[in-house]
Amino acid sequence: MPPLALYAHFPWCVQKCPYCDFNSYTLRDELPEQRYVEALLRDLDAQVGDLVARPLTSIFLGGGTPSLFAPAAIGRVIEHARMRLGFADEIEVTLEANPGTIERGRFAEYRAAGVTRVSLGAQSFDERQLKLLGRIHSADETRRAAEELHAAGLANFNLDLMYALPAQTAADALADLRAALALEPAHLSQYHLTIEPGTQFAAAPPVQPADEIVEDMLQRCLSSLEDAGFEQYEVSGYARAGARCVHNLNYWNFGDYIGIGAGAHGKLTFPASGFAVRTQQTREPRRYLAAVPGSLARKQIPKAELPFEFAMNGFRLVHGFDDEMFESRTGLPIEVLVRALAPLVVRGLVERSAKRWRATDKGFRFLNDILVELLPPTQAIPAP
Ligand SMILES: C[S@@+](CC[C@H](N)C(=O)[O-])C[C@H]1O[C@@H](n2cnc3c(N)ncnc32)[C@H](O)[C@@H]1O
Ligand code: SF4
Repeated sequence: MPPLALYAHFPWCVQKCPYCDFNSYTLRDELPEQRYVEALLRDLDAQVGDLVARPLTSIFLGGGTPSLFAPAAIGRVIEHARMRLGFADEIEVTLEANPGTIERGRFAEYRAAGVTRVSLGAQSFDERQLKLLGRIHSADETRRAAEELHAAGLANFNLDLMYALPAQTAADALADLRAALALEPAHLSQYHLTIEPGTQFAAAPPVQPADEIVEDMLQRCLSSLEDAGFEQYEVSGYARAGARCVHNLNYWNFGDYIGIGAGAHGKLTFPASGFAVRTQQTREPRRYLAAVPGSLARKQIPKAELPFEFAMNGFRLVHGFDDEMFESRTGLPIEVLVRALAPLVVRGLVERSAKRWRATDKGFRFLNDILVELLPPTQAIPAP
């Protein structure tokens, strides 16, 4: 059986950012903290009933802005998960936090509640960009939040940065990165600003730098990160030794995860039938709060889609995956993948050596081309 993780979604934010298409909503009334936590616990109870229980290897409390919830509320979710499923040794428990929501002393309380890792949405350290991105915090608030993390003994934290920001030069992106590295994070995620349908930015798109400039900024950022002791291990993920995100690695290695909370996704394997199932909860928070526990959507992943689903995740990793991982996680013989990937090997997009698959440097840049080749004929192409 693959490892089992838990994702809990917290859908509210102080203010919706103009670029964001996550399932998140500006908080207009009082936060229904207790009602929501209780709904999460019922949701978990209903889903655990279906499962062959395995101890959790990681928990990710994501959003939205989970740091709007008090440490006691977050602690109830963690404790309930421990009671229902048990924890593997050295479980990773990540909390996403917005620097604009962190009061003094708060991270120490989250840590006491069971949080072992924090992911902080820094985005940029340029005040003009932060304003443009509709962020509710200044660069100094991000610096203070990082200081609080170190003081609370939560040195295992990630900073989210975005690049290809409006009118950004390579020097600007490097300045952002240096400001981030000065806070001594253990992990850094760098996301290309994408204009998502239905967002404010889609209605009035900002002018982003040309592709050559973006390519140059990425290369220079990568060298800076390597000089600072970070290794790129995923398309957008860089970590110091021992600080890779266990929870995200489980997604990329096609592990199982329970999804609880408004709009949360899950993926679960049922060994008796050999089925893998995707689950999705009601997206809208009010409906989620009113939903009958266990009434989430479940869809079996058709066998024909498994190689695509697996590869969509596995080729995001710089070191790729091995034959055994493919066979154990999909239940399919490796010959299926060998056949599907043969044209990509010929084109130099993926390579296999010593039973290990990875995207080549060229393939890494054209990940979508790799994935399109693996799609069963009827499936739509997801957004990059
Ligand atoms: C769900 S958010 C969680 C962090 C927290 N809500 C915050 O913003 O501080 C995860 C990350 O996705 C990234 N992100 C969201 N929308 C994006 C977009 N359109 N393009 C690139 N990155 C995006 C941001 O870096 C953000 O921190
Ligand atoms: S980026 Fe984060 S803070 Fe902004 S709307 Fe999305 S989830 Fe909320």
